Amino acid sequence: MHLQLLSGKEIEELRLSSILVTGGAGFIGSNLVEDLIKLGVTRIFVIDNLILEKIGGVQRGLQSLTRFKDKFTMIIGDVTNYGFMKEFFKREEIDIVFNLAILPLPLALRRPKFVFDQNVKIASTLAELQRRDLFRTLVHFSSSEAYGSAVRVPMSEEHPLQPSTSYGASKAAQDLLLLSYHKNFGTDVRIIRPFNNIGPSQNDFAYSAVVPRTIRRILSGKKPVIYGDGLQTRDFIYVKDTCEAAMKIAMSESLKGQVLNIASGRETTIRDLIHTICRLMGYTGEILYRPPRPGDVRRHFADITKARKLLGFEPKTSLEEALRIIIYWYKSIYYSERQ
Ligand SMILES: NC(=O)c1ccc[n+]([C@@H]2O[C@H](COP(=O)([O-])OP(=O)(O)OC[C@H]3O[C@@H](n4cnc5c(N)ncnc54)[C@H](O)[C@@H]3O)[C@@H](O)[C@H]2O)c1
Repeated sequence: MHLQLLSGKEIEELRLSSILVTGGAGFIGSNLVEDLIKLGVTRIFVIDNLILEKIGGVQRGLQSLTRFKDKFTMIIGDVTNYGFMKEFFKREEIDIVFNLAILPLPLALRRPKFVFDQNVKIASTLAELQRRDLFRTLVHFSSSEAYGSAVRVPMSEEHPLQPSTSYGASKAAQDLLLLSYHKNFGTDVRIIRPFNNIGPSQNDFAYSAVVPRTIRRILSGKKPVIYGDGLQTRDFIYVKDTCEAAMKIAMSESLKGQVLNIASGRETTIRDLIHTICRLMGYTGEILYRPPRPGDVRRHFADITKARKLLGFEPKTSLEEALRIIIYWYKSIYYSERQ
């Protein structure tokens, strides 16, 4: 693992920390757990309710973590269950919580209230337990979806929060709540606001995101689909670059009460993204166009000046390099599942 942000002292400090990753059986969470293990952290807990399976998706993260099953403690449980979480924190002394538990954005298009209520409750449960000194540092994963469509680009942390889905609204509400606890009660909250992450272990079935969905469609002989005109843009970042930034934020005392965009700072249209996937997979067939999805933001493109300044952050992996790794990963699981 090539790390460029963490100093030797910070790595040493992380190794000695006791860490909880909520949502660690999901996409980014499992990549983070893998990186923490590779770094030599020995006390890692994951709490996840495996809801992706229940709503028709696949816990790809959990599957890839089976390789490391002796290196962390997996607990199946719900972060919104206050009593359960309180007992956990009383039993295990936790220094750092990385909060990645979330219900996915596409589910919010069908069940907006459920997604909003659950996601906000995840944050309020952790905020309340932190206020009672049950753990020290909360590195909370926000989302660029909290901004909604860009009213100006690039989007800095000062961009207004104008979410266009109940998922985005839940992410904005989580952030505001956690920051209010920081101001009111002095809790140690640090907020990372990632843009669109891509990488191995993303759910590729129900409620999946564009990259795994497109790769799976091509692998299974279907045509890729673009919703709308394909000119909507996103800022794609390779998941391992995000994970390193999250670890650095956890080690940076000066970031208490701060929000930091983590992204590539590159704007890519969905049409270009899908054409690149097709090229890399040797697909020359037709691409289907379907009506736009309600709530789909038009433009997302991050200003990462603050992360550059405060973390020394630079996205390491190019879009094409990331897509090559991801295509290879999905091909290997796709063919092994068909055997
Ligand atoms: N994937 C992205 O591109 C992206 C971009 C910006 C921000 N984020 C943020 O990063 C975080 C992780 O996203 P992801 O893409 O890895 O999501 P994911 O859907 O892959 O994983 C989320 C995990 O949380 C679990 N979960 C949901 N509700 C839970 C609950 N109440 N208790 C315990 N576990 C629960 C799910 O089972 C799942 O394993 C989220 O906060 C998300 O908003 C993701």
